[in-house]
Amino acid sequence: MIDLTSPQHPPLCAPLVAAMFEDLESILVTEQEIRERVAILGQEITETYRDADELTVIAIINGALLFTADLIRQIDMPVRVDCMRVSSYRNNTSPVQEPEIIDMLRLDLRDQHVLIIDDILDTGHTFMRVVKEISKLKPASIRFGALLEKEGRREVEAHPDFVGFSIPDQFVVGYGLDFAERYRQLSCIGVLKSELQNPPSWA
Ligand code: IMP
Ligand code: MG
Repeated sequence: MIDLTSPQHPPLCAPLVAAMFEDLESILVTEQEIRERVAILGQEITETYRDADELTVIAIINGALLFTADLIRQIDMPVRVDCMRVSSYRNNTSPVQEPEIIDMLRLDLRDQHVLIIDDILDTGHTFMRVVKEISKLKPASIRFGALLEKEGRREVEAHPDFVGFSIPDQFVVGYGLDFAERYRQLSCIGVLKSELQNPPSWA
């Protein structure tokens, strides 16, 4: 955990959007830590698929936007990209319904190696829902990668193949993760101050 009163904090999370930065309780993962970890994950993924000709990466949007954009540039093989929009959260910090697939893929996945990318594995319900849907398309293989995984939160059996960081059970924003569609642009991952997690004006 990083002390936000430290004078060094700007390089930990550039660009510094002052108004957003003030909303953070702490920084859990810095911009540089993310960059280094994403490079290693890219190597692991390249190694895992070394015998395949091509990989299809499916980003669960909007949360996985930034992570996927950076990750695919670290994968040293041809990649196809598609997106799936899944909704499980409204403007609050706990699931209000089963995950719903709002936008389905465009690519044909039959006999393809598929890597699903999400921002965070929390209860695991999104993971289960997406894997179930993608299995129907008869790919050659399905793997799952998440930038973050929350410890002790799993409600279903969900074992990711690639994980960036395991974090404690706190509500985090930044690097694609949002609260009410805000904070995605932060380059680091921080804990949102608890009093901001459900302001009546955003309900
Ligand atoms: P799950 O279905 O419970 O595993 O939730 C996965 C989804 O919940 C993620 O893709 C996120 O959109 C959202 N989510 C879970 N925890 C957080 C958080 O701490 N901050 C922001 N979004 C979160
Ligand atoms: Mg998400």
